[in-house]
Amino acid sequence: MEDQKRRMLSGVQPSGDLHLGNYLGAIKNWADRAEEFDCYYFMADMHTITVRQTPADLRRRTLEQLAQYIACGLDPEKNTLFIQSHVHQHAELGWVLGCYTMFGELSRMTQFKDKSAKHKENINGGLFTYPSLMAADILLYQPDLVPVGEDQKQHVELTRNIVQRFNGIYGDVFKMPEPFIPKAGARIMGLTTPESKMSKSVPEGCVFLMEKPEDIARKFKRAVTDSDTENPVRYDPAHKPGVANLMNIYAAVTGKTFDEIEAEFAGQGYGKFKPAVGDAVVETLRPIREEAARILADKAYLESVYKAGAEKAGYAAEKTLRKVYKKIGFVAR
Ligand code: TRP
Repeated sequence: MEDQKRRMLSGVQPSGDLHLGNYLGAIKNWADRAEEFDCYYFMADMHTITVRQTPADLRRRTLEQLAQYIACGLDPEKNTLFIQSHVHQHAELGWVLGCYTMFGELSRMTQFKDKSAKHKENINGGLFTYPSLMAADILLYQPDLVPVGEDQKQHVELTRNIVQRFNGIYGDVFKMPEPFIPKAGARIMGLTTPESKMSKSVPEGCVFLMEKPEDIARKFKRAVTDSDTENPVRYDPAHKPGVANLMNIYAAVTGKTFDEIEAEFAGQGYGKFKPAVGDAVVETLRPIREEAARILADKAYLESVYKAGAEKAGYAAEKTLRKVYKKIGFVAR
């Protein structure tokens, strides 16, 4: 029964193209959650404008990302998928919660400190009050769990402080959300920089979900390994990080164990191993890429998904917002 399931909500910023690390490390596991939870996911376009965006790119990436999530298995019939700016209650509750978030609290946010150091020319008010908007994103839907990466945990903790403060004054208005740091899927490193996580900022070592098979194959052929020649395909992350990363990837896409992989490539060199990993990745991503392209081309379908999502989300959000407005003393419309 839909209503008896616990609710889960998460936002993703449409600020870059999704890559293999995102997929194997996280997205791949999201489809299954819908069995157990009532899941809400939104494209956090309002958050992305805290940093300057090119309008046409933001619009394109928002739709591309939505199409890619669906192609990765997030079924719009089983999950509520929407675009943040389509549900006006986010901005409204964001304003209210800003009045219940302290300057000192916002000043302590690591992400604010990092981003304002990185964008010295544009330290805007939105960047500072971002966590109040994020608290609104969450609290509008009264979720039980908020899956976030480690870097966003502090924002969920702040949301919990806001709940305590607000409920302390007005009674039980918001449900206390729990951060949920998903059990990491595979931790995928850059193909050319196996000591750091795969990242779009190092494009030659990063495999994007929408990338052409020949480009993916080429990136794997150029993946960094080592000069080991005697039985080189062995899992030894401390001494052979590049090989360990390729084995991790191969294991994640084929379901094979490290022992099985070692046996498969026993006595063979990287000239055999690297293309084999590349081929396996190409075949894993092929249906995702094709499905995402098909969805993107079907504008009417994509529109029907985000409209239905916004309608459903808006209904839940409005219920909470009305309650809040009443509690704080706004005259009913
Ligand atoms: N701040 C999150 C990030 O950058 C995205 C986000 C916005 C979010 N609102 C949220 C995540 C609400 C979880 C819940 O990754």
